[in-house]
Amino acid sequence: MCHFREWECRSAVGGSLLIRQVSQRIAKERYFSPDFLRLEWEKMWTRVWLLGPHCRDLQNPGDFVTHELGAESTLFVRQQDGRVSAFYNVCQHRGNRLCVENTGCAKVFRCGYHHWEWHTNGAFKRAFRPEGFADFQRRTDLDLAPIFCEEKAGFVWYTLSEKPPSLSDYLGEIGPLMEPYQAGEFHRVAHTTCEIPCNWKLSADVSNEGYHVATLHPELLQILDEKASTLEIMGSHSHITVPVGIPTSDAAKALPPSTALRETMRYMGLDPNTFVGSAGEVRAALQKAVFENARRDGIDLSGLSAQSLVDKHQFYVFPNVQLNFFPRRLEVYRHRPHAADPKVTFFDEEAFERFGSKPVPAKPKHVRFKAGEQSMGPVMGADVALLPSLQKGTESRGFRGLLLSSEEGAIANMHRVLDDYLRGE
Ligand code: FES
Ligand SMILES: [Fe+2]
Repeated sequence: MCHFREWECRSAVGGSLLIRQVSQRIAKERYFSPDFLRLEWEKMWTRVWLLGPHCRDLQNPGDFVTHELGAESTLFVRQQDGRVSAFYNVCQHRGNRLCVENTGCAKVFRCGYHHWEWHTNGAFKRAFRPEGFADFQRRTDLDLAPIFCEEKAGFVWYTLSEKPPSLSDYLGEIGPLMEPYQAGEFHRVAHTTCEIPCNWKLSADVSNEGYHVATLHPELLQILDEKASTLEIMGSHSHITVPVGIPTSDAAKALPPSTALRETMRYMGLDPNTFVGSAGEVRAALQKAVFENARRDGIDLSGLSAQSLVDKHQFYVFPNVQLNFFPRRLEVYRHRPHAADPKVTFFDEEAFERFGSKPVPAKPKHVRFKAGEQSMGPVMGADVALLPSLQKGTESRGFRGLLLSSEEGAIANMHRVLDDYLRGE
């Protein structure tokens, strides 16, 4: 059970906003107040570690990727010595956005306005007609502004903090739990960004609780054991484990596999036509099949437990990322705030697969769209379809604030950790 203290926050523009945590309801203003969005930016977003690009997006020296968060853009570049550097993506002449492409390979970064140039290591290279600037040769403030970044678990992580904790300390117990999956071996197979008219926390919350699985996604009860799912709070973060390849109800476990479970078997590499047994016996057969198929494809899964071969492990890393690991598939959800509008989120959904010795498909295009413009699949589609009306409801005069069950403990923990940042702890 989480307890929330009353606290007061002051906005960047000097106004004040009293957020009261009454009877353990979460104050609804957190989901729509512009003052609260500004406070989150000042006290939280600029202090946490964030998930940047996958390491395969930066394979060779000069490879670069840009990432947007609020009003900031970060430029990640693979260096000659193999390390990754990150910089604020801003020209040091008049503040133009330096690199306007999202990804590519560069020999130099040249601003599109007056053509000032920087080396890929962030060092200033040259300016157009420098003789017009006083003391130009003596200036020491022309290099790109650096950002802390570090590669871990297959991704580049970064922080806008100037005095960050170590990434290992930040991730805590979650870091070692992700390592056995070897996410650096995965290849991207899908990349979308959906603009959703809701607060970034609503978008994150919907993937941080399994309480809605039976009600919003009843079709999933055929292929996963919702009642055996577990939630662990791990410091600032949390971990949800979902047993896959087994129906939820005891009655269904005793029956032959349903059509949906047979599809799951096929997807996970077990031919349902050769399987003899009840739905409750599928999981053990799947464990064996997943392990054997991986060995056939030159992939060593010996670092994973037998259960993990057919479980989904979701790691929520505060504040805005869920990494959903299966042995050979990883689905990343990243919820990014709008720079000024608390009611807009950019939701990145990235999927990766591990191919081993099998041929790797061409890298997918990054597709951007607004909620409702494109299908997102039945499960994510149902979640995202809900968010605009959830946003409107949080703003209702008649809504008393969020009331959370123990099954929604990851959301309560997120608010607890957010409180700590906002209080400067
Ligand atoms: S603003 Fe970039 S060169 Fe002038
Ligand atoms: Fe959902």
